[in-house]
Amino acid sequence: MNHHPYEINNNGHLEINGIDSTLLAKKYGTPLFVYNVDAIRQNARAFVNTFEKFGVKAQVAYASKAFSSIAMLQVAKQEKLSLDVVSQGELYTALKAGFPVEKIHLHGNNKNYEELEMAIKHNIGCIVVDNFYEIELLKDVLANFDTEMDVLIRVTPGIEAHTHDYILTGNEDSKFGFDLSNGQAELAIKQLTEMDKIQVKGLHCHIGSQIFETDGFVMAIQRLFDTIRNWNTKFNYTPKVLNLGGGFGIRYTKEDDPLPLEGYVEALVNEIQKQVDISDMNYPEIWIEPGRAIVGNTGVTLYTIGSKKDIPGVRKYISVDGGMTDNIRPALYQAKYDAVIANKAKQPLSETVSVAGKCCESGDMLIWDIELPEVEHGDFLAVFSTGAYGYSMSNHYNRFPKAAVVFVEEGKDKLVIQRESYEDLTRNDLSYE
Ligand code: LLP
Repeated sequence: MNHHPYEINNNGHLEINGIDSTLLAKKYGTPLFVYNVDAIRQNARAFVNTFEKFGVKAQVAYASKAFSSIAMLQVAKQEKLSLDVVSQGELYTALKAGFPVEKIHLHGNNKNYEELEMAIKHNIGCIVVDNFYEIELLKDVLANFDTEMDVLIRVTPGIEAHTHDYILTGNEDSKFGFDLSNGQAELAIKQLTEMDKIQVKGLHCHIGSQIFETDGFVMAIQRLFDTIRNWNTKFNYTPKVLNLGGGFGIRYTKEDDPLPLEGYVEALVNEIQKQVDISDMNYPEIWIEPGRAIVGNTGVTLYTIGSKKDIPGVRKYISVDGGMTDNIRPALYQAKYDAVIANKAKQPLSETVSVAGKCCESGDMLIWDIELPEVEHGDFLAVFSTGAYGYSMSNHYNRFPKAAVVFVEEGKDKLVIQRESYEDLTRNDLSYE
C-alpha cells in the first residue's frame, strides 16, 4: 500500500485527496470512479515543466482515449495541454468541453468521411494521416472546403516496445501508419506534399503503451531523425513537428517499476540533444501524447463487497458490484491491480482472497490472490490506479449501467459523470410489438 499516495484517516478509512472514501461511496453509490484532480494537474505539469526546464520546444497532448469526459477535457484545457482524439465521439466531447480547436489532433487507422469533415469544418489543429485510403478521402473532403489542413504523417518505425502484445502498435506488422522500411512512408509524403490544401507539418510515431524502458523511445527518436535527414535530402522536406506518441508506463502494483514522469522526458530530451542543437531553435517542435501517465494513478474505483465463496483448500472469492464492465483490463490483458478495504485500511491483512466481478462470465475477475483484512459484505473495496482505460473501456455487458465519476480537488468532491439509469440503458431500444 505504501506505493499509493493515499492517506488513512483516524477512523482507519482510506482518504482520497482529503476526503473519506467511504463517505464518497455512500454519497454517490458504487461502483464509483474517484479522481484526484490535483494529481492530474501535477502529472500534466511534470511533463510540461520538464520540457521547459531543458528549454526544448514541446507540446504535451493528453491522449483522451485514456479517459474522456467534458470535465476531464476541461482540466486538460486549464493545464494548457493539447488533445489527441481518435474518433468523432472523442472530437465531439472535446468540442463540447470548449477545448481550443487549434490544439486538437485527430488520430485513427480508419477515419471516415464524416470524421474528416468534422475535423476540417471545425478547423482543428491537425489530422494524423494513417493510410493511403485516408489520403484519398482527405482529397474528397477538402474539395468542398476553402481551407488548408495541417497533417502529420504517422509512420511505423519498426520498434518493438517491451509490453503486452495486445498493446503493441509501433512494430512493422501493425494496422497503424505507413511503414518506414518498405517505401510506403516515402510514397505517402510525396502524395501529401503534392496536395494543394495540405500542409505536412511533421511526423508521428507511437511505439506502444505501458512502457518502462526508455530504449524504445530512444530508438524511435533515432529512426525519426534518420528519416528526417533522408527526406530532407530527397524531397527537401523539413518538418516543423516530431510527435513521439505516448506510452509512458505507470505503477499498478509493487512489481511495476516505472520512471518518474520527469525521467521519461529527460530520456527523450537527452536523445534529442544528440540529434540536434536545441540552442539554434531550428529543430522540429517535440510533441508527446501521454494518456495513462496523466490519469492512470489518479483514479480509484470504489466497489461494495457482496457475496463470498470459500472453496476450502482452493480459493476464497469475494464479489464486488462491478467488474469487467467498468474495468475490462484484467480480463483483456491479465492486468494486475492493487486494492485495500477502504473502511478497514488500517486493519492487519489476514486473508488471501480473489476479487470477482458480478458479470456472468468466469473470466470476470478483477484481482487474483490479494491479501486483505477479514472481509465482510458491505465493506468497500478501493482498487487503485484505475484512472486510465477503466471508464473509457467500460461497457454494458449484462446490461449493467455505467458507473458514476467524481472529481476531488482541494478537499471538495464533485460529480462529473452521472451514474447511468436503467432508463438510459434502454433509451435506444425500440419496441417490436
Ligand atoms: N498516442 C497514440 C497514437 C496511441 O495509440 C496511444 C494509445 C496513446 C497516444 C496513449 O498511450 P498511453 O500514454 O495511454 O499509453 N487500452 C489499453 C491501452 C491502449 C493504448 C492504445 N493507444 C490499456 O488499457 O492498457
